[in-house]
Amino acid sequence: MVIDSNGCIGMLDSGVGGLAVAREVLRALPAERLIYVGDTAHFPYGTRTAGEVVSHVRDILDFFCDAGVKAAVLACNTASAVALPVLRDRYPFQVVGVIDAGARMAATSTRNGCIGVLATERTVQSGAYGEAVRRLRPELRVLGQSAPALVTMVEEGYGEKDPAALDAAIAEHVRPLIEAGADTVILGCTHFLALGGRIRQLFPGIGAVIDPAAETARQVADLLAERGLLQEPPRGANGLPRCRFLISGHDADHFRLVGSRILGREIGAVEPFPARALAGRVQGLLDGSILDEE
Ligand code: DGL
Repeated sequence: MVIDSNGCIGMLDSGVGGLAVAREVLRALPAERLIYVGDTAHFPYGTRTAGEVVSHVRDILDFFCDAGVKAAVLACNTASAVALPVLRDRYPFQVVGVIDAGARMAATSTRNGCIGVLATERTVQSGAYGEAVRRLRPELRVLGQSAPALVTMVEEGYGEKDPAALDAAIAEHVRPLIEAGADTVILGCTHFLALGGRIRQLFPGIGAVIDPAAETARQVADLLAERGLLQEPPRGANGLPRCRFLISGHDADHFRLVGSRILGREIGAVEPFPARALAGRVQGLLDGSILDEE
């Protein structure tokens, strides 16, 4: 497989959460094309076994491989924690996760040396943040708090549907980290990236709330630049970034509605995530008929 600058960037998550990372990638790399897979049929990843997560992520990366991507972003902490170490060297393109970016930011932000991670059960249990932080600063303490209810609320659009219930759930899950001494909280699940402002409002004394999305986008931009893989701008009539969105489940309307708010732009067509046999057809679509979403 030849990796070239005309390929697109593949991104994946179990649902809408990774769109917050896609938003930053589009901002940092306005000439690039994205293909985003929301594995909604297997949502949530955070309560699955590591083996299941690896298997679902592998299916999507295999699809990206057939589709000729030039880089892939695991816009999901659970996938980054358990699948990235197993799968990163299996593909001809670079696979980037979100954990190193969050760990780096938190390690430079904390003043009292205690970092809290709000994440899924699987991410907390993996210890991936603790390892990444301690590689940088071995003296730091890292505490994990899993919040599966919050993942579901974000995926279901509670920010609009019932903000008071969402705030109550945020408070319930963040408070233990603050009470245990964390001055810095990492949003260690991409579903939580939209919750940073609410957390700051609910806990005004908090030192820092870490959102790794922009730092991850910078990492992708640096990687493409280093390898000579940046797309020459502008591409297409108006130079706007072009995206495709695929989901493995059936609720395309819901994904479009909740996802558009997180992405910060209107999601147009949402396509079924195809079985491997259809990947070749998708390559054709990517070559010829990517839609501008704006
Ligand atoms: N958004 C994902 C993460 O960052 C997964 C949430 C889930 O599916 O449990 O971990």
